[in-house]
Amino acid sequence: MSLLSIPSPADWHVHLRQKPLVYQVAKHVRAGGFKTAYVMPNLVPPITTTEQALEYKGLLHSIDASVEYLMTLYLNPALTPEEIHKAHKAGIAGVKSYPRGVTTNSDGGVESYEIYYPVFEAMQEVDMVLNLHGEVPSNPDTNTCVLNAEETFLPHLHKLHAAFPRLRIVLEHATTLAAVNAVKACGPSVACTITAHHLALTVDDWAGQSFNFCKPVAKFPSDRQALRDVILEGNPKYFLGSDSAPHPLHRKSVSTPNVGCAAGVYTAPILLPLVAHLLESFGALDRLEGFVSTFGRNFYKKLASEGLEHNVTLRRVPEGTAGLIPEKYEEDGEALVPFWAGKPLSWELVP
Ligand code: NCD
Ligand code: DOR
Ligand code: ZN
Ligand code: ZN
Repeated sequence: MSLLSIPSPADWHVHLRQKPLVYQVAKHVRAGGFKTAYVMPNLVPPITTTEQALEYKGLLHSIDASVEYLMTLYLNPALTPEEIHKAHKAGIAGVKSYPRGVTTNSDGGVESYEIYYPVFEAMQEVDMVLNLHGEVPSNPDTNTCVLNAEETFLPHLHKLHAAFPRLRIVLEHATTLAAVNAVKACGPSVACTITAHHLALTVDDWAGQSFNFCKPVAKFPSDRQALRDVILEGNPKYFLGSDSAPHPLHRKSVSTPNVGCAAGVYTAPILLPLVAHLLESFGALDRLEGFVSTFGRNFYKKLASEGLEHNVTLRRVPEGTAGLIPEKYEEDGEALVPFWAGKPLSWELVP
């Protein structure tokens, strides 16, 4: 098989950044084969109101009007049920919770989402999606660190799902067998995104290699296998959310003592060929359409909108031809290094 046609792929988790990077980054959605982008709200300052989200959507639209941008709000204590209703009417699709969204209750030091229950109630009522960055903050006192931050978070998922069984929840960027199993144990209102890079990486690939460093960090080979297995199964609760998260070169490539590098892997410009390459590498190429298109669209109840349905065609890169991932992308003096820079991919988009 040397040609593959995929109907209306959608990326259910992508960071498109703000000025000036956004001008370069937003155009890479289509370059990677996508016309539907579920846009993360962690700008500086974060997108917390309907008004800000619509303004951001306008900016994205002015850069590439051919992409459908599904907008989200950043969960924070100032978010009200009224704002949820307003956001819903304005077409905002979801609310993203970040680790610091899990607030520590001062008496007892118990982490909890309970202050947000009125907001979740409103979201359940209007059928808006809750996107969870499923990691607890590191804390030496409780032996939590990047390696167990996701697994330690999972009881929060079960508690939320029990409290709001009809609320659609997506556990974002799962990296562990434990997370895969936790989502399986939940009802049909709970789904899970998987990134491309977590299908490739394990701890050894980011320990000492800052361009592979992201949050949540890639875990054990057995965890990566669990992500691959659930795709091989064709389980519709698990679909692509790239978490493509570019950072300027000087934030990734850091060699200053005691200065860490930014977390994030940049996959957007090569996304569909990369996912095809990866799925084929573990025998799941026949699951590509479900993973990048049907499963996520069904969960989000967002079939390709009229005029935006599109077939993307991939072709196998002929033996011996280049097909290498660019070393970097550069615009207006800002260089961005993609995942697997300089490596060959076995699939490419047919223009
Ligand atoms: C996010 C932020 O600051 O909004 N961090 C980041 O960009 N790496 C929060 C998060 O995702 O942990
Ligand atoms: O690696 C990551 N980068 N993980 C996140 O959750 C945030 C993202 C970013 O915004 O850079
Ligand atoms: Zn996240
Ligand atoms: Zn993200």
